[in-house]
Amino acid sequence: MRNMKRFMLTAVLATGLLASLQTQAALRSFEGWKLYNTYCFLCHGTTGKGDGPLAKSLKLTPRNLTDPVIIGQRSDRELVRLIRGMGAHDKVSDMPQWGSVLAEPQVESLVSYIRFLSSSPHGLVGDPQVGQQVYQRYCFACHGNDGKGNGVLSKLLPINPTDHTDAGVMDAMDNRMLKKIILHGEGRDSYMPAWDGILTEAEVDALVSYIRLLSHAK
Ligand code: HEC
Ligand code: HEC
Repeated sequence: MRNMKRFMLTAVLATGLLASLQTQAALRSFEGWKLYNTYCFLCHGTTGKGDGPLAKSLKLTPRNLTDPVIIGQRSDRELVRLIRGMGAHDKVSDMPQWGSVLAEPQVESLVSYIRFLSSSPHGLVGDPQVGQQVYQRYCFACHGNDGKGNGVLSKLLPINPTDHTDAGVMDAMDNRMLKKIILHGEGRDSYMPAWDGILTEAEVDALVSYIRLLSHAK
């Protein structure tokens, strides 16, 4: 009997742990975006094109991290190594060695965000951090904490809320289209509410940007 209880407790704890790990995976690009705008934008620029305010004073031009050819041919492990730069032969001039400052999961989040920069057809139009706050207040009940469409209310709806982590589905819609859907809903038979009058333009732009990062979180 006691063993059974212990087993159930372990199972519950493990499920909770798994859920929080999954949430973290969905937020990887978002975490990467935050780190990037602290440590990397000075050289690589806010858009990742290599034109940050410090770029002109460097001997080497910072890499354009939005280039799908250059970034596309690098494996995740190579990118981690290039960012950490801790090996004896890994020192590339002017690119700091981040391995002494950032932990491994942080570097992996940065790789996820660099993948977003080099593969997303749509840029960020608002502040994703504001977007996260608004999302957690108004959207998670249906779309789920991690955007997978499995929020507590989703089981009561006859239509599944869209999975925002599906890059194929989300990339097919441009930023204007997403904004329109959020402001005006998706029509009479849809259970996606219209947020016009509740959210400001800036908040909707922020949401669109946050959803973009959820959709590219590998
Ligand atoms: C002081 C300026 C500076 C900062 C800050 C900086 N970088 Fe760099 N980075 C460079 C330069 C310069 C290069 C090009 C090095 C070369 O061509 O050998 C580079 C190259 C890279 C590359 C290699 C790309 C490739 O495929 O060749 C990656 C990845 C990268 N940086 C990521 C980052 C990340 C992530 C951060 C923030 C944690 C960051 N950089 C911060 C200057 C900087
Ligand atoms: C009451 C539940 C509910 C809430 C709350 C909700 N949604 Fe939705 N949402 C849905 C449903 C259901 C769909 C799918 C509609 C359909 O397929 O017709 C949807 C679809 C969407 C789509 C369209 C994607 C596509 O494939 O067309 C976007 C974008 C979206 N929601 C964003 C949001 C945002 C941002 C919020 C918070 C401000 C939010 N939703 C809040 C239920 C909800």
